[in-house]
Amino acid sequence: MTKQQRMQAHETGRPNAQIDARFAADVLQGLSRSQKTLPCAWLYDLRGSELFVEITGLEEYYPTRSEIGTLKRSAREIARQIGAHATVVEFGSGSSHKTPLLLEALEAPAAYVPIDISAEFLYESLKPLQARFPALHVEPVVADFSKAEDMRKLRKLLPADGRNVGFFPGSTIGNFTPPEATLFLRQAGDALGQGSLMLIGVDSTTDPEILVPAYDDARKVTAAFNLNLLVRINRELSGNFRLGDFRHEARFNPEQSRVEMHLVSLIDQDVWVQGSRFQFKAGESIHTENSYKYGEQKFAQLCAAAGWQEIGKWMEAGGERGNFGVHLLRCGAAA
Ligand code: AVJ
Repeated sequence: MTKQQRMQAHETGRPNAQIDARFAADVLQGLSRSQKTLPCAWLYDLRGSELFVEITGLEEYYPTRSEIGTLKRSAREIARQIGAHATVVEFGSGSSHKTPLLLEALEAPAAYVPIDISAEFLYESLKPLQARFPALHVEPVVADFSKAEDMRKLRKLLPADGRNVGFFPGSTIGNFTPPEATLFLRQAGDALGQGSLMLIGVDSTTDPEILVPAYDDARKVTAAFNLNLLVRINRELSGNFRLGDFRHEARFNPEQSRVEMHLVSLIDQDVWVQGSRFQFKAGESIHTENSYKYGEQKFAQLCAAAGWQEIGKWMEAGGERGNFGVHLLRCGAAA
């Protein structure tokens, strides 16, 4: 089977239908709760994934620049710690824009396994990557890494040679609640195997003056990213959200050390989705995303609770605003 055929085999498989069914169930359930809530993974349809790429280029959105700066400066040192013939498994690969920084530095990487919930965006993004690394074995997986079922499937797919390296940049770990993050790291350890590594980006910024603009930018790209979820519900689930009757809001919640994104209803209104009615009071919101910011200690506790040890950490020396770290973890007890 050629690389192209293998990619097509995945493309025509079932995971899409399953993901669509989960979307419908999550929306009907999430809008029925007293605090209406939707899992942030659903922000990433094709359009949402494109808007997120635009966010990463915004002046106010410091995490991407900061992490890329660190990866560029420290890739060789990181690659030395990882060693040769690694299989790189990226959780939420999206555009795969950061991946070449790691792949370039690694000695003879064995394979790249990008995992993403948006099939369309995943396959589009892999074309330039495969062109740049023609000899690299690429095995894309359309899946939701927040689901235990999908993580169990991943485990069966990966080599059990202890050479797997998880790649989880962007502080996407912060989109989980702490208990969910612990569970994810545990499941990732089960999938990658004892002795495997994980290169993970963690944002520790807590200054609301930096955080709020980063999640509510002047050009309103983040607002469009958040509101696109309603466009998606309208299109895929026969919804009738009127976009002008909702506004994007980013709030820093200091008790929980997280940025929250909400879609706030401007008026009292009823909205229909797949034949079900949902009532909104003026000012009532749909909570669409958390972005937890972990201090050094809190993150170390999280890793320990999930069976990972920190073996390295890199940061930018000044320059970019915020406080963004890239950590290398090893699965299993300390050697
Ligand atoms: C997906 C974790 C990289 O939470 O910072 C950006 C998503 N949401 N702006 C984050 C996001 C609003 C982002 N990550």
